[in-house]
Amino acid sequence: LSESRGARPIVIFDSGLGGLTVVAEIHRRFPREELVFLADRARVPYASLSPALITRYAVECFDYLSRFDPKVFVIACNTVSAVCGEEIRARYSAPVLDVIAPTADAAAATTKSKRIGVIATTATVRRRAYDTALAERLGDVQVFSQGCPLFVPLVEEGWTEGEIPEKVVEHYLREMASSRIDTAVLGCTHYEYFRSHIQKYLGAGVTLINTPEVTAVRLGEMMERFGLSREDGRIGDVTIYSSDITEALYTVAGSLFEMNDSDHPVRVLPADTAAREVIV
Ligand code: DGL
Repeated sequence: LSESRGARPIVIFDSGLGGLTVVAEIHRRFPREELVFLADRARVPYASLSPALITRYAVECFDYLSRFDPKVFVIACNTVSAVCGEEIRARYSAPVLDVIAPTADAAAATTKSKRIGVIATTATVRRRAYDTALAERLGDVQVFSQGCPLFVPLVEEGWTEGEIPEKVVEHYLREMASSRIDTAVLGCTHYEYFRSHIQKYLGAGVTLINTPEVTAVRLGEMMERFGLSREDGRIGDVTIYSSDITEALYTVAGSLFEMNDSDHPVRVLPADTAAREVIV
């Protein structure tokens, strides 16, 4: 029984390509697992939408993803985790892992000064998701939050290197750089693509929590606890579905995965016709 449960896929969602950083880390740590990912690129960015619409879109996507019979759902999107994580959790029987809890745990375990930066979408900042999670863990913590709306479209364009991303990092993080934080959270999975620029700008005195890593570790603990690991020796497939496919998707996926390796297929597929009815 446990092998048949273990053989089911881990199903991962993000509004766009940020979640691929989480998929890549899960694949690196647990290469035998079957991974299914959906990016709702037709409607990204979610963060500029109302909470009601974010919830509607996210639920539509998770309803679609239910057809893959997931053994675990991973919400690889801070915005969806912050706005409607509870609704998603209550709606499905599969266990749901979001990115906020493991990231907040890691930040709480890392900080000495209890001065923590949260670099996130404006929706996550407005929801005070990390303020609440960090206060629960640390009590008297000081959180310095910054929304960075231009990061998501840059990633969706595949534009993560060079002078423009560097300038955008500087523009958004100027105030945070002088706030004497010792730890910062990249509270949007898209921002992972700017990790090295952000680290360089904030300086070596600031520890940047690695959300893909801490989420993958937590996922491993969950699979262990529920007896859900895949025993099969074969390398698992990674299937990337998207509600819209453009060249940039291949560029970004190609920066994270070996795309033309027939032994370890990483496939990009359109969310199918049935999905399109639901999603677009
Ligand atoms: N990757 C998503 C997150 O972690 C965000 C993006 C969006 O605005 O759609 O928050």
